[in-house]
Amino acid sequence: MIEKPADRHWNLPDHARARAHFDWAEVRAGLAGLPGGGLNIGWEALDRHVADGNGARLALRWLGKDGAVRDYTYAQLLAEAQRFACVLERLGVGPGECVAVLAGRIPELYIAALGALRAGIVLCPLFSAFGPEPVHTRLEKSHARVLVTTVTLYQRKIAALRDTLPALDTVLTVGGDCPGTFRFEALMAQAETGCPVAATGPDSPALLHYTSGTTGSPKGALHVHGAVAAHAWSGRAVLDLRPGDVYWCTADPGWVTGISYGLIAPLVNGVTMIIDEAEFDAQRWYRILDEQQVSIWYTAPTAIRMLMKLGDAPMAGRTLPALRLMASVGEPLNPEAVLWGQRVFGQPFHDTWWQTETGAIMVANYGSEPVAPGSMGRPLPGIDAAIVHRRRDGGLDFLPDGEAGELAIRAGWPSMFRAYLDEPERYASCFADGWYLSGDRAQRDADGRYWFVGRADDVIKTSGHLIGPFEVESVLLEHPAVAEAGVIGKPDPWAGELIKAFVALKPGHTGDDALRKSLIAHARTRLGPAVAPRELGFVDSLPKTRSGKILRRLLKARELGLPEGDLSTLEGHES
Ligand code: WT7
Repeated sequence: MIEKPADRHWNLPDHARARAHFDWAEVRAGLAGLPGGGLNIGWEALDRHVADGNGARLALRWLGKDGAVRDYTYAQLLAEAQRFACVLERLGVGPGECVAVLAGRIPELYIAALGALRAGIVLCPLFSAFGPEPVHTRLEKSHARVLVTTVTLYQRKIAALRDTLPALDTVLTVGGDCPGTFRFEALMAQAETGCPVAATGPDSPALLHYTSGTTGSPKGALHVHGAVAAHAWSGRAVLDLRPGDVYWCTADPGWVTGISYGLIAPLVNGVTMIIDEAEFDAQRWYRILDEQQVSIWYTAPTAIRMLMKLGDAPMAGRTLPALRLMASVGEPLNPEAVLWGQRVFGQPFHDTWWQTETGAIMVANYGSEPVAPGSMGRPLPGIDAAIVHRRRDGGLDFLPDGEAGELAIRAGWPSMFRAYLDEPERYASCFADGWYLSGDRAQRDADGRYWFVGRADDVIKTSGHLIGPFEVESVLLEHPAVAEAGVIGKPDPWAGELIKAFVALKPGHTGDDALRKSLIAHARTRLGPAVAPRELGFVDSLPKTRSGKILRRLLKARELGLPEGDLSTLEGHES
């Protein structure tokens, strides 16, 4: 157990007491709300601070890869977001329609996101390291009418497939002129500021985040404007955000963390957020923590492990006196990483648990509490968690402390996803007896702390990215030599898991090194490097259930040299 100094002040000084007295109505009452009623994330993030006289406060400091720095105050960010809302209005895009964004961490992405939210248009973020295939699948399923991207990404990932996306009538590109698209900067220059906010309410759709399941194509988790209550509250209670903080969330805005905690929670809480355009670079990260005087840092286990790899040397000569809290999310945080934080930074990393579907942090370690390294912490005030087992009749058994089962959250919290777009049955199957079932296995100890055990299904977490094996298998099957493919997550000390594919070939093909390289190259081109298999092995045939489903768990057991166990339990849970 890592004890904490008693002399610090925290937003959440007493977790148990706050849980006992908590009421979401009080959090909602603390939001600004729209004049005349209603609720809008963009308004809470920007207009509210300007109205409160804080328009001159720094909202966003952008650090370009090449050393450029661009600062936006709350008032400037609001003006830019209004300009983008005006662009959308001129394009005839209205409330409830969908705008997708596909870009690296550039200011225009944040401006477009805020402008869309403020205009009541559903924002669908896409990860810029996805290859053309995952981008296409998500754009098609979302029916996005507008895409904001860059010239390079458009040419690499969209142009060739544009004809197959009939709903996508407008593409805006940042960084130059490009046939078939409008130049973002040009439309922004012609647009006015002062565009009114859309009359959204707590149940109006706001965000569409794609996430992966075991089977089928990715699922579009839809969130509403009312989710902002959970972003605001968790930002204060877990991340301890306060006006005046310099906050750095290292997550990419192509995933839910980069939106919920890399955009919404910080702005709603009035802090200055740091956005670093560059890819991970340990030396650069230490420099940013130091030079920007970061006070709250929210990062991920893969990055922490990479920092650990370098040893303690980069911290030499630095004390980081401003750094008040370090937190982590996305994959299991090794106890060694928590202890390393304590040794090198003088404080532990605080693990937090949540998912795309939960929209906000559900379980966390708190600044005011001792940390048990390896535990994900306790549920937030306002959140009820349980460890359950789903019976065959669909009902739930609640398991006692110390027993592993599925981690469930009582339905009804503000940032609960409201649909899997166009898949009502898939959505309904995530709930039982008024509880949301997460698909994660965990256990609770006698102190009410939750400990992660593993996934109940076959999805893969690689470097913090959730990857569906089915998407990878489908792309391998496109290759003329491939008869069957099965994809698993193989434990890896740096990435958590790495993607490993098993391939059975069609007659007449030989599984040699050249073919292995060509299959991996094919997957990288179609899927992008973050999603393509890193390892690929040839097999004569893939193990399957009687109904013909690939037994990925058996492939994994074989790969790891584990006992193959009882096949009936290997069918597992699908989500
Ligand atoms: C899955 C959700 C977390 C928001 C961004 C990613 C895994 C998440 C932890 C943790 C162990 C964790 C779970 C979860 N996960 N946090 N603290 N310890 N595993 O959202 O892409 O929907 O991924 O990430 O398996 O279900 P996501």
